[in-house]
Amino acid sequence: MELSTQNLLPSWSKTAPIHTARLIVRPFQWTDLESLHKLRTIPKVMQWTIQGTIDSSIQQTRDWMKIFIDETDSARRNFNFVVTLRNDNSDDPANCQLIGVCGLVALDSLPVSPLPMLGYMFSPEAWGKGYATETVLGFQREWRRLVDLAQQTHSIPPESVEELYQIRAVTLESNVASAGVLRKCGWTMYEKVEEEDKSLLRWSVTCS
Ligand SMILES: CC(C)(COP(=O)(O)OP(=O)(O)OC[C@H]1O[C@@H](n2cnc3c(N)ncnc32)[C@H](O)[C@@H]1OP(=O)(O)O)[C@@H](O)C(=O)NCCC(=O)NCCS
Repeated sequence: MELSTQNLLPSWSKTAPIHTARLIVRPFQWTDLESLHKLRTIPKVMQWTIQGTIDSSIQQTRDWMKIFIDETDSARRNFNFVVTLRNDNSDDPANCQLIGVCGLVALDSLPVSPLPMLGYMFSPEAWGKGYATETVLGFQREWRRLVDLAQQTHSIPPESVEELYQIRAVTLESNVASAGVLRKCGWTMYEKVEEEDKSLLRWSVTCS
């Protein structure tokens, strides 16, 4: 059986949160709108994203979120999460402060872009505390678990499994913070490209 990245993934409603020592990385909820709008209107966060500018209205944030909340549970086009701080005094996700976003977006561009791309952003109050590193490492563990699970339930040739373990990322060369996160998580920079007057670095990791 040919196994694509998309069919490794659980549906949106069955997506389990990723737990790390200090964080809960969970699927988007509509109640995150206000916190996400706040994050997406900070210029020093958004300047590093593909969009490059802040959201101009709450409606723009809502439209962006829509892509990541699939109430119909149809075939997945992304595997994106919000990052929240664990709150030992409450089990209610609403009481866990949202500090960022991390995940795979635009899986529908596969196989044009043959490997899934990881993206992330965190709010400035949370920078420099190792949260991005902890999130990306947690994500890599989850990715490996999903590939291993698929391997147990389908017969996949070993070379395909190796490929499925791989994730890629792109950073602006000037984004030293992001490069630091990827290096700490075991990623390798494999290519530098110039695109529309920007220097981009391409990265990959094998989550095995
Ligand atoms: C990039 C970003 C996610 C880093 O988040 P973070 O939680 O501060 O990262 P961490 O604390 O896990 O840092 C991990 C490593 O990154 C490096 N790093 C982090 N911030 C840095 C900075 N401002 N300058 C240089 N290196 C930095 C360090 O090497 C750090 O390692 P250390 O612990 O040995 O010092 C955060 O700055 C951010 O959200 N930026 C805006 C959005 C963005 O750039 N997204 C990525 C697009 S590709």
